[in-house]
This record gives sequence, C-alpha cells and structure tokens, in this order.
Amino acid sequence: MPTTDKLNKELVLTRKVNTDDILRKALKMDRSDIISELRDSGLKGRGGAGFPTGVKWNLAGTAKSDRKFVICNADEGEPGTFKDRFLLTEYCDALLAGMTMAGYVTGAREGIIYLRGEYVYMLNSINQKIDSRREKNLLGKSVCGNTGFDFDISIRLGSGAYVCGEETALIESLEGQRGEPRNRPPFPATVGYLGCPTVVNNVETFITTLHIVDKGATWFKKFGTDKSTGTKLFSISGDCAKPGVYELPLGISVEKLLAHVGGEDAKAVQIGGASGNCISKEEFKSAIAFEDIPTGGSVIVFGAHRNMLDVAENFMEFFVEESCGQCTPCRNGTETLLEGIEQLKRGVCSTRYLNKLCELGETMQISSKCGLGQSAPNAFLSIVKKFKHDIFSQRTIKNNNSGEK
Ligand SMILES: Cc1cc2nc3c(=O)[nH]c(=O)nc-3n(C[C@H](O)[C@H](O)[C@H](O)COP(=O)(O)O)c2cc1C
Ligand code: SF4
Repeated sequence: MPTTDKLNKELVLTRKVNTDDILRKALKMDRSDIISELRDSGLKGRGGAGFPTGVKWNLAGTAKSDRKFVICNADEGEPGTFKDRFLLTEYCDALLAGMTMAGYVTGAREGIIYLRGEYVYMLNSINQKIDSRREKNLLGKSVCGNTGFDFDISIRLGSGAYVCGEETALIESLEGQRGEPRNRPPFPATVGYLGCPTVVNNVETFITTLHIVDKGATWFKKFGTDKSTGTKLFSISGDCAKPGVYELPLGISVEKLLAHVGGEDAKAVQIGGASGNCISKEEFKSAIAFEDIPTGGSVIVFGAHRNMLDVAENFMEFFVEESCGQCTPCRNGTETLLEGIEQLKRGVCSTRYLNKLCELGETMQISSKCGLGQSAPNAFLSIVKKFKHDIFSQRTIKNNNSGEK
C-alpha cells in the first residue's frame, strides 16, 4: 500500500475534505470565476507536459460546439509512476467531482475515464462510485439540482500501449482507431474526441482543481515556487529505504527529497520516468519544478552499485517496444540507439560513433512527431554525458581507429 507523507506543513491533494460539498459550491459559482481561480492559481497539468489547466478549460469552454467531452487520462504508463493508481484507489470521489466541475465549466455533458488496462481490477470499484454518485444526483440529469447541467461519466479501458497516454493517441484509441498520435494543432481542447472540443487532464490535475476551488488560488500559491505552484504527488521507487507515494511541494531539491525517503546514498536519480532525465550527484541541489527539472511524478533512485549503461539499455528497450512506428526518427532512432548501447556494452563502439549516436538523439528530440520520440533519447544522452565512468571504465569504448563502427 503506498504511503503519503508531508514535508510541507499542510497538505493540498491528500487532505480529507467533503468533495460533494466542494462540488455543490462550484456549481453555484459563475463558470468564469472558476476559470479565473484556476488561472490565478498557476496550476499546470500534472501529467507531464505542464500546460496551464485554466487556459485549457477556457479554450474548451469558449469553443463553439453542441457536444464536448471531459477525458481523464488514467493511462499511467510512464515507468516508475504509480501515483494515479493511489489516487484512483483512495481519492476516486475527488476525481469524479473534479471531472464534473470541468463538465460544468466547459459545457461538456460526457466524461470518460481512460483507464490503464492493467488497472482493470479497479473497474468495479470505480463504477460503484459512479453509480452511487448518480443515486445522490452528483451525476446524471440536472446535477445537484442545477437545471440544464447534465453530466455523466463512463470508463474505457486501455490495452497496454504506452503511447496511448499521449492525449491524441488516447483519443484515436477511444475512437476505435490504432493508438497513434495526431498532428497538432489542432489541439484536443478545440478539436478532440469525435472532432469535438475535449478537455484531457491527468487524474491528479482534476483532483487539484477541486482543492483550488475549495480554498482559493492564493492559498494554493503558498505552496511551491512562483512558476510551479502547489504540491505534487511523487511516485518514488528504487534504491531508497522508504519508497512510496509522497505529496511534496514543487520546487523541492533532489537532495531534500532523497533525505526524506532514505535515498541519501544515491549515485543517480531518474526524474520523470524513462522519458525524463538522469541526474547525477553534482545536480542534487537542483529543484524539481517546471522551470528546473520537470516531472510527471516518477522518481527512480539508483544506488552506487548500479551500472548506468544497464539503466540506459533498459529504458531504450522500453522505447523500442513502445514506439508506435509512425515516424522515422523515433522508429529507427530508438532501434539504432539500443544497438549503440549494446555495442558499448560489448566494447565495440568507437568514440566517433558514440558522438554520432548523441547527434542522432538530439535529432530525435527535435524531429519526432510526439513526446515519446522527442523524449526517448533523454536518458541515453544524460547518462552518456554525466556517467562517463560507467561508459569508459569498463573499456567499452574503442578508440577512433579501431575499425569498428
Ligand atoms: C508517450 C506519452 C505518454 C503519456 N502518458 C500519459 C499518462 O499516462 N497520463 C497522463 O496524464 N499524461 C500522459 N501524457 C501526457 C498527455 O499527452 C497530456 O499532456 C496530459 O494527459 C494532459 O493532462 P494534464 O494537462 O492534466 O497534464 C503522455 C504523453 C506522452 C507523449
Ligand atoms: S514519435 Fe514515436 S510514438 Fe510518436 S508518432 Fe513518432 S513513432 Fe509514434
């Protein structure tokens, strides 16, 4: 069972509240006041990309259409991330209330939870919550007696593709097509599911909106930094004494976080999952925040005994498996980087070829179609740059004249 803990004095997301009362309060507010509160709070999406939530809701709300949707992205496929599982288990009512509020603000009548296939075991319990909310008129026709506001939520299951967490691939998958990312723009807020304006938000984002409406933007901004307001849930795993789910203020340093979870002896920390960056000891004073080291919440701690080339190999195998194959930089690039890592491990990679691999990684970052291919080289590039010892000490690099690649 995951644990929550606090380093800050007050909790935001995991404080116990009456979510029904907050929803009732929200449904009496003017829609534009809710948007203003969210905008003032500085809340950025908790799924990884960090798009301002108030702006997204306003775009969908002002888009002209008879039909709109609210989608909760509960695909949670990033390696090392398990905080949404915790929220879906322990704070499901807050999620359903947050989605309902998004429906009210944007004019959507239909909400969908896109649930990670492996979380099928939660299907019954979430459906029971939805049923019970219908009975209490917290969902359905004229929600909370609000004539003209009808809103209901259904659940759709993913089938295990990591790329389907990308919002446009998720929408393709919901529509019954192959889960492949779309060209953007247009963005889902204006042209989304079935071509209709669609708000897609992470589980944690919906829950956070509810707390902001309850306690206000000024209260929320007490936590975090100027550019990364609020607290965030972190899924912490790997070589530390106390792995688990933690609510911590954004802006916390890597060093402080490690001390909190018993990971002081770490050699490296991967922040942001497989698609994030690998941080070395020299950078442990950096802040985990959108303006410094951004993350959707995954923190993997590596102890002194870990070989970082093995880590890079493990992540790259993941991307080779998960690339949807639609665009060349990602489809071929991930394969080539994995081959390169294997050559490094066999000691048959020249420094010249290693430099070429790094150039390839940088090209993938700017030319891949979606975030998967753009971020696939991150771990490889940061490990090559920062953990030269693991790459050079094992005599894995041949000199330029070796005749090998
Ligand atoms: C390959 C890939 C996988 C993603 N997986 C998830 C996911 O599992 N959950 C999630 O909320 N966002 C995921 N995202 C980000 C979504 O595309 C989108 O930005 C997010 O759901 C928006 O919600 P937010 O604004 O609340 O963060 C993923 C993005 C990419 C490129
Ligand atoms: S970057 Fe990768 S996952 Fe994204 S569209 Fe291209 S091939 Fe598919």
